[in-house]
Amino acid sequence: MNEQQRKEMDQIKKSEDSADNLDRLKNLGSDELIGKYFQSTYEPPNLKKAKKRRREEVQVHYDHSIPPEMQQIGKGKKFLIRTYGCQMNEHDTEVMAGLLSEMGYETTNDTKEADVILLNTCAIRENAENKVFGEIGHLKPLKLENPDVIVGICGCMSQEESVVNRILKKHPFIDMIFGTHNIHRLPNLLKEAMFNKEMVVEVWSKEGDIIENLPKVRKGKIKGWVNIMYGCDKFCTYCIVPYTRGKERSRRPEDIIQEVRQLAAQGYKEITLLGQNVNAYGKDLGIEYGLGELMNEIHKIDIPRVRFTTSHPRDFDDRLIEVLAQGGNLLDHIHLPVQSGSSEVLRVMARRYTREDYLNLVAKIKKAIPNATLTTDIIVGFPNETDEQFEETLTLMEEVGFESAYTFIYSPREGTPAAKWEDNIPMEVKKERLQRLNALVNKQSAEAMKNYQGQTVKVLVEGESKNNPDVLAGYTEKSKLVNFVGPKSIIGKIVEVKITNTKTWTLDGELIKEPVEVN
Ligand code: 5AD
Ligand code: SF4
Repeated sequence: MNEQQRKEMDQIKKSEDSADNLDRLKNLGSDELIGKYFQSTYEPPNLKKAKKRRREEVQVHYDHSIPPEMQQIGKGKKFLIRTYGCQMNEHDTEVMAGLLSEMGYETTNDTKEADVILLNTCAIRENAENKVFGEIGHLKPLKLENPDVIVGICGCMSQEESVVNRILKKHPFIDMIFGTHNIHRLPNLLKEAMFNKEMVVEVWSKEGDIIENLPKVRKGKIKGWVNIMYGCDKFCTYCIVPYTRGKERSRRPEDIIQEVRQLAAQGYKEITLLGQNVNAYGKDLGIEYGLGELMNEIHKIDIPRVRFTTSHPRDFDDRLIEVLAQGGNLLDHIHLPVQSGSSEVLRVMARRYTREDYLNLVAKIKKAIPNATLTTDIIVGFPNETDEQFEETLTLMEEVGFESAYTFIYSPREGTPAAKWEDNIPMEVKKERLQRLNALVNKQSAEAMKNYQGQTVKVLVEGESKNNPDVLAGYTEKSKLVNFVGPKSIIGKIVEVKITNTKTWTLDGELIKEPVEVN
């Protein structure tokens, strides 16, 4: 870089408001030059590269270390992580909180108090991304007021080149951008951001190895996430996850079981096994071991409640059904995203099952587990979805008798196959379909709730109700939220509650067994 280029770059970096910083940098030289300016190893993320599924084996590492000069760097300082999106992100946040705590940082909820602010972002739909860009806008005055605060963007959005470019161009005040595959590098990246005072961009398009034993600060002491696998190889045509989270990589069963045992020993009452497509668990391990076997082992561990999410119908096998049918701590609430009730729409979504396949699977599950509760995810307004095809989603909703559903308007995601097709369902039609679907979801949920009137349910008490500190709130085995009056001493316990009133989404009840814990 010559003197003239350096001067111009410094000028560009200083001009906070310039909307075309990146173009000016680009005019000056190549991406490599930009990289030199921002960080020595800058390589823009690339969704095409992220799509590649490589043969080489994923290594598992059991050690991690924090650079010596970073070990105490956070003493007397605070961090704040805003988490958007799914449980996987929530769990990644727990790991980043663990790493920051190891460096001496404490947590805060107040942006003004924070020395490090991280936005752990979600890319699943456009509105998720808009929320993050809104928040980035809010953080700018804070950064101008306090230039020492480190602001970082991580999570799924960082894996997208368009997002990184937009941040480089329009939000040069951001100190670091890193992706989903290198969160364990947070201490090193923070070091670079602090000492080099240049924007640090480190996003790996290729998924990384599995790093065990990373520290975690879990959000609570009652329920815990346990990651069983990373990534997704399903490539549903609308979905960006296989690109942002890389290829499927399963943790070794012994590492998962050890983590569950630890949580049980620490008094956790519920765990949720996490993965983008948990039913593919074990396929990459090269041993005959799947989710069914894993759940069968976990079934024997003394922890009262075990859930898993998210399932893909295609890989939901008989062994898993057989294991789940044993009951005990394996709860019979199954979240089984269907996405559409039309075989033709499912075909273009590349879901690799038909409406009939799905209904057969549901029938098998209900036969083996008669009380099973099913919930789902549905997308409306997929390209070319006809009124008749949408009607098929409504009839499927009724036929299965889903007790609730997460419903979404299709949102094109750059880099996915569906984004190349015309997004040809007008927004009013999409909204109308969503409304009709939601009306049915609400009806079915309210009906399912009515069945609980007068019944006694087991509730894992999580704390005070969000809306009323005099009321306690917790979830039943089938994930229904119950509000009731009781002593605070039962928070964290499983108690019996008699349902006295039912609403569309929640139940009210009375504590019937004085603080006696039931499992
Ligand atoms: N548009 C709308 N919804 C989507 N989902 C995934 N990708 C998209 C998209 N591009 C939904 C699916 C998935 C859930 C997590 O998000 O229903 O199951
Ligand atoms: Fe996305 Fe789930 Fe399909 Fe994977 S299985 S591509 S995460 S919708």
